[in-house]
Amino acid sequence: MTLENTLVKESKNEAEELESVSEKPLENDVREKRPKTPPLPKGTQTLEHQVAGHRHGKSKTKLGFLQNTDGTVLKAIQSPPRGMRELQFYQNVFDENQTNSALISLRQFMPKYLGTYSSPELPNVMYLVMEKVTQPFAEPCVCDLKMGARTHDPEATPAKIAREKAKYPFLENVGFQFQGYSVYDQVKKKYDIYDKKFGRSLTEVEVLTKGFAAFFDNGYGIRVDAVKAMIKKLEEIEKWFMSPSGLCFYASSLLLVYDGERTSTGKTDEEVSDGIDYIKETDCACTPEVAGCVNHCQLAMDLECPVAVKMIDFAHVFPASGLDENYLTGLRSLIAYLHRVLEL
Ligand SMILES: Nc1ncnc2c1ncn2[C@@H]1O[C@H](COP(=O)(O)OP(=O)(O)O)[C@@H](O)[C@H]1O
Ligand SMILES: [Mg+2]
Repeated sequence: MTLENTLVKESKNEAEELESVSEKPLENDVREKRPKTPPLPKGTQTLEHQVAGHRHGKSKTKLGFLQNTDGTVLKAIQSPPRGMRELQFYQNVFDENQTNSALISLRQFMPKYLGTYSSPELPNVMYLVMEKVTQPFAEPCVCDLKMGARTHDPEATPAKIAREKAKYPFLENVGFQFQGYSVYDQVKKKYDIYDKKFGRSLTEVEVLTKGFAAFFDNGYGIRVDAVKAMIKKLEEIEKWFMSPSGLCFYASSLLLVYDGERTSTGKTDEEVSDGIDYIKETDCACTPEVAGCVNHCQLAMDLECPVAVKMIDFAHVFPASGLDENYLTGLRSLIAYLHRVLEL
């Protein structure tokens, strides 16, 4: 069986429109022809902390993201040409015989590609398997930003271009859009979740206040350490985009993740109460007998807050000459927004 005919068939519309279709039964229905939610392949469950995109049991095809107990993510491959384009992109970037240095250095900014998977329960459905970006975090706060003021690819029809342009009125000026985010409130010990509808309601100023300032607020205040660590990572991605790669990334996202369980010093509450023990002796030149060594405290301050910034969603990556100015402009706008968060 070829890969093409194992792919999930979907209408031409993007996932977003599909997902907004009412899930209530319709009269005389059409819905009977719609797929039922398929059984979960053994050892999998729906993806935790998913903030946007196709969801298992909710998208029109009822297929979406799953997670495996081994810490991997399964993404149902979408209908041609989108799903194949994304799969081939991952395969190309992570090809062990790859010699293109731009693609090799791009790997560090993507979830690691781990192959494909079809389960005995759903033999006709193929999943792309990748590293779960949220895995190392106790309470992952996750934000999906679709990058670029232009979100249609070179093959888009005029109708598709018009639909894309109508989605978010401030996109031209902002340069990216919130697809969704979840933030862990340490005071209330719960997540606040925002979807793309909320993202599309944000004015340029609200992107700062209701977008980033809220995403980085753990209930006690803004997680300055996480913001700073993210800026560093985004600047590395910016550097990558400043050399021509031969690619343009339309409608691709950046996934920002930090740990909502940590405090602004980068330590968990428990680690704070444990005091200097948090820093391993090997991190410091002093002997363990030197109680209260100031270096321990200094090291604690210097330790970078663990965050993840990964590029995802490559269904519309196209060959191109020159720089991807569309992505770069969005990226620079994002970095500027994060600098403004530090000034709040
Ligand atoms: N590797 C990953 N690790 C953890 N979460 C992921 C990963 N890839 C995607 N996600 C989650 O799934 C969402 C949708 O991902 P995306 O690739 O954009 O799918 P779609 O093509 O359906 O838009 C992201 O916003 C994120 O919450
Ligand atoms: Mg997406």
